Amino acid sequence: MTSESPAGLFRGLFETHLHVTDLEKAMRFYGDVLGLELGLKETNRRVALYWVGRDRTTMLGIWERPPWAVSSTGKPVFSQHLAFEVAFDDLRAAIHRMKENGVELRNFSGQITDEPSVFGWIPAASIYFSDIDGHLLELIARLDGVPAADIGIVSLAGWNDLLRDKEGKASLSERALRSMAEPRDRDPISDLRDSLANPQRHEI
Ligand SMILES: [Fe+2]
Repeated sequence: MTSESPAGLFRGLFETHLHVTDLEKAMRFYGDVLGLELGLKETNRRVALYWVGRDRTTMLGIWERPPWAVSSTGKPVFSQHLAFEVAFDDLRAAIHRMKENGVELRNFSGQITDEPSVFGWIPAASIYFSDIDGHLLELIARLDGVPAADIGIVSLAGWNDLLRDKEGKASLSERALRSMAEPRDRDPISDLRDSLANPQRHEI
C-alpha cells in the first residue's frame, strides 16, 4: 500500500456480515453469549446489526437469507471467518469470559485449549471458537515487537520463550537445563516448535 493509493485513506474495516440459519438463535449467541451491543434488528429483512468495540468502531451483521445471496430452498450456510480484536492485556480475561459462557476455545491447529497461537509475521496472538452455524470466529491481540515471519505460527508460550532468549533474559538455570536436555545442533526455531507440544503453559 502506498499513501497515494485509495487504501492509503482507509481507516480500517467498518463492517462484516455473516449468513445464519436462524436469526433468533444466532442472536442468542452474538447478543447473549458474546454480549455484543445490538444496534438494529430488522425482522422483515431478517437481519441483526451489532456494534463491536467500546466506541462502536465496527459493525457486525448477521443475516438469515441475505438478499445478496442466491435464494433457494435448502441453501447451505457457508462457513465464514472474522476476528474480534482485543488488547493483549485483556486477552486472558476475554478467554476466561468466553469459557464461563460455555464457549469452547481452540488454537490454530484446532486443538481444544486456552493457549493462544501466535502469528509471527504480524505479530499477534489468537484463539478460535465457532458460533452455532459453524462460522469460524477469533479473538486476536496484537503483540509488541517486530514481525518474525520465519517463526511461523507458534504457541504464545513458545513466542515468549523466543523473546526471553532474544533479550538474553533467560535465567542461567533455564539455559543449563536446555543445554542438558537437547543437543546443541538444534536451531532456536526447532526449540520453539518443540516447546509448542507442551500444552500446560498458559503464559499470557
Ligand atoms: Fe483470522
